This record gives sequence, structure tokens and C-alpha cells, in this order.
Amino acid sequence: MKSELEVLNVELGERSYPIYIGQGVLNEQQILEEYIDAQQVLIVTNETIAPIYLSHFVDQFSENIVVKTSILPDGEVFKNLENLNKIFDALLENKCNRQVTLIALGGGVIGDMTGFAAACYQRGVNFIQVPTTLLSQVDSSVGGKTGVNHQLGKNMIGAFYQPKCVLIDTTVLSTLPDRELSAGIAEVIKYGAICDLQFFEWLEQNIDNLLLRDNAALTYAIKTSCKKKAEVVAKDEKESGIRATLNFGHTFGHAIETQMGYGEWLHGEAVAVGMCLAADLSEKLGWLSAEDNTRIRSLCAKANLPIVQPQTMAALDFIKHMKVDKKNVSASIRLVLLKKLGEATIYDCTDETLINEVVNRHSRVAS
Ligand code: NAD
Ligand code: GLY
Repeated sequence: MKSELEVLNVELGERSYPIYIGQGVLNEQQILEEYIDAQQVLIVTNETIAPIYLSHFVDQFSENIVVKTSILPDGEVFKNLENLNKIFDALLENKCNRQVTLIALGGGVIGDMTGFAAACYQRGVNFIQVPTTLLSQVDSSVGGKTGVNHQLGKNMIGAFYQPKCVLIDTTVLSTLPDRELSAGIAEVIKYGAICDLQFFEWLEQNIDNLLLRDNAALTYAIKTSCKKKAEVVAKDEKESGIRATLNFGHTFGHAIETQMGYGEWLHGEAVAVGMCLAADLSEKLGWLSAEDNTRIRSLCAKANLPIVQPQTMAALDFIKHMKVDKKNVSASIRLVLLKKLGEATIYDCTDETLINEVVNRHSRVAS
């Protein structure tokens, strides 16, 4: 069975870890238990995923392993310190010691919160990512960014903390709502746009197969995305350079998520619009051709993603939120733009009229 799985490695010296990808990975008891330190496990999941996958997953562990669970409410709006504390409550109520392994069974919200809890509990315990959305399989489960939102800014409280391994079972995508599948495809498109023109072309040709959940297409997209992410993270774990390019579309996107109230727009949807706005700006600066800009917009549209920002949002709203972005180093707004399709660059924007112009291109709101 193990031979049918794809295994990639995130190369980070003593913190290196494998990513297992394939159908039925969650039934692989041997793999799972290899990454558990002692006989204590706390699975963190949410109220939507628990009824579908939790009991089957718990059944995979040998009898000598004590498995406890923490079931959080579902949604981006619950990704905050209050709900993080519920994980600590479960750990302490169950008398979990430093040898405990936390397992995140869920999408990016559960993964980010569980990872942060693991980074903090008793100054750091073992954790495993079991991502169940496409978005978390191609992005958030890899690379060690963990944390929670603050009402004044997305992901503003957190830590870099790497998992022991990532287990990606593609069969769980069968229960994912269509809208969530599309949100995940946004992050897949991102990899093509920033660093792999060939992959972008493959996506243009295979978008229908992805939407139809063809397993071979999904597995290829997940593997390619994880490979790209692992390469970037290995070069720049803490985002002092190239890792920032993985935030293509995210600066505009986080502004949408914060302005609209967490959960109203899905993360991937906000990123899709953010990529379109960043592509417009790249064209405006004379880098990206108009034709390639249109290709990005059409691919997002074909993936059933929004390509225009919320019409209640003015350029000033974007600028206000973009000034609180973690990437900023001075008064300027740091953006990831495209030199051309398949090649990203960092741009410190000091001229807010540029942001005004790209936002107003598709806006009916006066700024
Ligand atoms: P999510 O975790 O909210 O999951 C989306 C929805 O799908 C939820 O309602 C969830 O309960 C449901 N769900 C999950 N798996 C399911 C399944 N197999 N079947 C049916 N329903 C299922 O959202 P997401 O898109 O996975 O993640 C978004 C979060 O990830 C955001 O908070 C974002 O900031 C974060 N993120 C983090 C990183 C990182 O590097 N750490 C990268 C990208 C995004
Ligand atoms: N999602 C961006 C990163 O992990 O760096």
C-alpha cells in the first residue's frame, strides 16, 4: 500500500518532514503511528468534519494509544484566541504531558489553530497535519505557518512551527462542498502564476477535470503544489525573502476578508480577486502582458471563483487594511506582483494612486 503513495519531503534540516499523498492515506496505521512520540494523542477537528471522519480516524489507532478529541465550532470566524483556548482546556483536562501529539483533522482553520496550540502548549509539542480541504492540502498544511486572527487583522497572532508529517488523503475531497473546492483551486492557480508557467498551462487544460474531482488530476495538482511550496519553504522558512511570493493575491485578499468579516468571503475566493488585482497592477507597471493578465482572470472565472472585489469595498478600504499587512517593512505597502506569467517579484508600493486605479477599474463605489 505504502508504495502507491507519493512521498515528498520538506527539507529543513533536523525539522525536515514528509508529506504523504494518496487515496486511503488515513487508513495507514503504520505511517500515522510512526510520527507519534508517546501513547497520548489529541485530535482537533470541528463540528462539520467530526461526524463524517472522526470515528473512522480514531479507529485507526492501536489500542495502546490513548486518543482524546477536541471538537471546535466550524468557521473562520472562530479562528481566534477564545477558541484556541478550548484546545488548551482539552489538553489540560486530559492531563496531557509534553509527549502528547496534536493532530489537526480539518481544513486550514483547524490546521492553523492546532499548529499554534502545539507551538504554545508546554512550550512546544509534537503535531501532525491531516488536511481535509483542497486548500489545506495544497497550501496551509505545509510550511509551518500557524496562528489565529485578530479582529483588526488576519493571522496576526501566531508562530512558525513545523509539523512532524503531513498526511494527505485525496478521498476526503469527495465530501467537500463545490465552493470550497474552488477556493482551494485558487491557491493551486497561484503556484502556476508565480513560479511555473507549464503548470499554469496544465491548469488551463485540466480545470474541468479538477472541478469534476478526477482523482488523477487532483493528485497531480496537489503533488505539484506541495512540491513548489516545499521548495520555497526549504529556502526561506521564516519568510525573509522568496517565501513572500507565496502571498501573491493575499495582500488584497486579506483586506477583503478583514473588511467583509471573517467567513463571509472564503480565503481562496478573496485570494482569487487579490490575484486579479495584483495582475492588473503588474500590467499597469508594464510587466505582465494584457493577454497573460486575461488568462489569469479567465482561469479563475472557469474555476468558479469571483474575479471582482465586493462592490461595497472602496479603494480606501483596501489601503487601510493593506497597511496592517505582516509583509510591510516601512510606510509602503509590500505587494507580490508578476514580472511575467510564471515569475513573481516583490514590489514596495509607495504610490497609493496605483492601488486606487486598479481597484476602481472594477468598482462602482466612489473612493
Ligand atoms: P476551512 O478550514 O474553514 O474549511 C472549509 C470548510 O470545509 C469548513 O466548513 C470545514 O468544516 C469544511 N470541510 C473541511 N474538510 C471537509 C471535508 N473533507 N468534507 C466536507 N467539509 C469539509 O477553510 P480552508 O479553506 O481549508 O482554510 C482556510 C484557512 O487557511 C484560512 O484561515 C487561511 O488563513 C488559512 N491558510 C493558512 C495558510 C498557512 O500557510 N498556514 C495558507 C493558506 C491559508
Ligand atoms: N500561504 C503562504 C505561506 O505559507 O507562506
